[in-house]
Amino acid sequence: MSFIKVIGLTKSYSDTKALDNVSLEIEKGEIFCIMGHSGAGKTTLLRILALLEKPDSGEYYFDGTKVDWNDNLRKSITMIFQIPVMFNTTVFKNVAYGLKIRNYPKNEIRKKVKEVLELVGLQGYENRKAKSLSGGEKQRVAIARAIVLEPKLLLMDEPTANLDPTNSAIIEEIVREIVREKETTIVFSTHNLFQAKRLAHRVAHIYKGKIVEVGDTKEVFENPKNELTKKFINGELF
Ligand SMILES: Nc1ncnc2c1ncn2[C@@H]1O[C@H](COP(=O)(O)OP(=O)(O)OP(=O)(O)O)[C@@H](O)[C@H]1O
Ligand SMILES: [Mg+2]
Repeated sequence: MSFIKVIGLTKSYSDTKALDNVSLEIEKGEIFCIMGHSGAGKTTLLRILALLEKPDSGEYYFDGTKVDWNDNLRKSITMIFQIPVMFNTTVFKNVAYGLKIRNYPKNEIRKKVKEVLELVGLQGYENRKAKSLSGGEKQRVAIARAIVLEPKLLLMDEPTANLDPTNSAIIEEIVREIVREKETTIVFSTHNLFQAKRLAHRVAHIYKGKIVEVGDTKEVFENPKNELTKKFINGELF
């Protein structure tokens, strides 16, 4: 079985069907992109994969285990949001927080925090106030804070939507590095076609709550099969 397998996920908010019968498989170590327009259902799908939300119906298998939304898989899954929220303290304490509440010994916390800060290119930032950092730096702290817990699945909801191209490129390189160095699977959402193309191994196009096409990135961009995906790629779908 695939690392992630969801079957027939459906989620409605009053009269809005945010997800409509979504089935998807994601392999271990993949960088997988959910692309689609505003309101297509990207965040809803990521929140369900992150166990932050329960679908109205459907099944979710995580690493061979059927998810029942009450179990303890949460430590294996972390989600990063579009606008990172920093704790009002130093970068070190922001990143160390999750390890501290899990009672890791102090020297191990120092070692792990140092390692992930290097990975996100923020070595030497330990004593800086997190809230005073730039948007791009904050997003890198958010990534460090997530990966220090060594999640098996990292979900990123439009991680570069508020960043300029330079900072977006830095984040994209960090994502590649995480997948190279750690045994992490990454699922990210974007409405940025270029980012999907650059970063993802495979992409799913979600439209009005339905996955209309999924495949290898190159394949989908060069030879889209679905008419809506063709239009989306050509910028003709509004
Ligand atoms: N908590 C909620 N209450 C009511 N409606 C919601 C809620 N969350 C999402 N929706 C609706 O569900 C649909 C899908 O929303 P979702 O946030 O998943 O889209 P999205 O693809 O992430 O969009 P965006 O690109 O703007 O972030 C939208 O019509 C949205 O208005
Ligand atoms: Mg969203």
